[in-house]
Amino acid sequence: MVSRVIPVDPFDLVIFGGTGDLARRKILPGIYRRFWSGQVTGDARIIGASRKEMSDEDYRAFVRGAIAEFAIEGGEDGDKVEEFLELLHYVAIDATGEGGWKDLRRHLRGHVVRAFNFSVGPSLFGDLAEQLHRNKIAGKHSRIVVEKPFGHDLESAVELNRTLRKYFREDQIYRIDHYLGKETVQNLMAVRFGNILFEPLWNAQFVDHVQITVAETVGVTGRGAYYDKSGAMRDMVQNHMMQLLCLIAMEPPHTFEPDAVRDEKLKVIRALDPVDPGDIVRGQYGAEEGIASYVEDAEDEASLTECFIAMKLHISNWRWKGTPFYLRTGKRLKARASEIAVVFKDPPHSIFGPQEDRRGNVLVIRLQPNEGMKLRVTIKEPGPGGMRLIEVPLDMSFADALGAEAQAVPDAYERLIMDVIRGNQTLFMRGDEVEAAWAWTDPIIAGWTDRGDRPKVYAPGSAGPEEALMLLYREGRRWRDIKE
Ligand code: BG6
Repeated sequence: MVSRVIPVDPFDLVIFGGTGDLARRKILPGIYRRFWSGQVTGDARIIGASRKEMSDEDYRAFVRGAIAEFAIEGGEDGDKVEEFLELLHYVAIDATGEGGWKDLRRHLRGHVVRAFNFSVGPSLFGDLAEQLHRNKIAGKHSRIVVEKPFGHDLESAVELNRTLRKYFREDQIYRIDHYLGKETVQNLMAVRFGNILFEPLWNAQFVDHVQITVAETVGVTGRGAYYDKSGAMRDMVQNHMMQLLCLIAMEPPHTFEPDAVRDEKLKVIRALDPVDPGDIVRGQYGAEEGIASYVEDAEDEASLTECFIAMKLHISNWRWKGTPFYLRTGKRLKARASEIAVVFKDPPHSIFGPQEDRRGNVLVIRLQPNEGMKLRVTIKEPGPGGMRLIEVPLDMSFADALGAEAQAVPDAYERLIMDVIRGNQTLFMRGDEVEAAWAWTDPIIAGWTDRGDRPKVYAPGSAGPEEALMLLYREGRRWRDIKE
């Protein structure tokens, strides 16, 4: 199956932080892959900008290396790479001073889409927005792309929104949450709203509970000191997991237009109950031979920051009243596995008599790796014996079902950058969504700080602290195993 590639309009894209890690690993290889596929055409112009002095040629050499290392598909196609490099330019710029802005303006063309990616530390977001405005580089039709973190708490997010809105309208601001660009995350919407099958059952009457797991095997080695200032709640829950929760729990929007979708997501966040401290478990990985503990990685033996969190949430609205949503995410867990499991209730009456070990229907949406969906259904155990029931999966691996195309699942950034150029904000967070998420997060974090809560230590390579398992056991439920 080959999907149609529709070329995007000509554009000028400026990447501030153009020599940084995100540009090297994700943004530049992502744009190259879109070029390789024919979606980005030879009319595009990409301008790397950062503090460093560099010629266009130096920058092209840098990007050549990034493509070789991270572009996977097409990265070995030498001619295509050289053709792509022709589209690149470089400008040395001082975000807070005068240097480079005139030069940048000279590189930009009229009458093409103009986008600016702020792939820099958040302290520079405001400066860049102001400079673009003051130097008359951004106009009414320009777009800015802001990377996470979008604020550190509600106050800083409100302040950042206020600053950006001094110079740009909301429909020009693209706040990235790369989870929204993941192929399976978008599929969540397709599955929910493109089929009649699930939606009638998608509520508290039929859903026992929902589990959302984002498990990583990596620790925070090398970025511990930075990570320690945020922790799992700010780094993963407030943004990525909140977005997943919204897509699972929201009402059907009346159309797939950006604001229709984002209005519905916002309502979910606003309907979240405050979380009882007894419904949250925080953890830090301990040390093991050859593996430093979290506090060693964080370079602070006294750190109280969590790199694991499990929690139970409730959404107070008609659809979900009474159905718990369990979230869990952590570093150095037993496998890299991200999935959403919708666990349905048992049928109201078993005509087959008691079936002790039955576990009922579960819909598993697998985000990574091995993207796909599984629906666990009950069937009769084959054989001439009695009527014994077993569960089997109706299994759809996207790679098996869709062939080669699904093997090359595009990176989230490819999709998101193309959406910026197309002017489609559906997969970007609106300012009020981000603020609502912080408004819910802040009191939870403040509670830990006030109480001096100490995260539980867990073994690297485990499923997190025992207490996280208890969060479900105590209610007669259990987490799904974390496995690839
Ligand atoms: C980032 C977090 O936003 O997402 C990282 O800052 C985390 O801590 C990463 O590792 C996970 O993203 P992915 O796409 O690998 O699941």
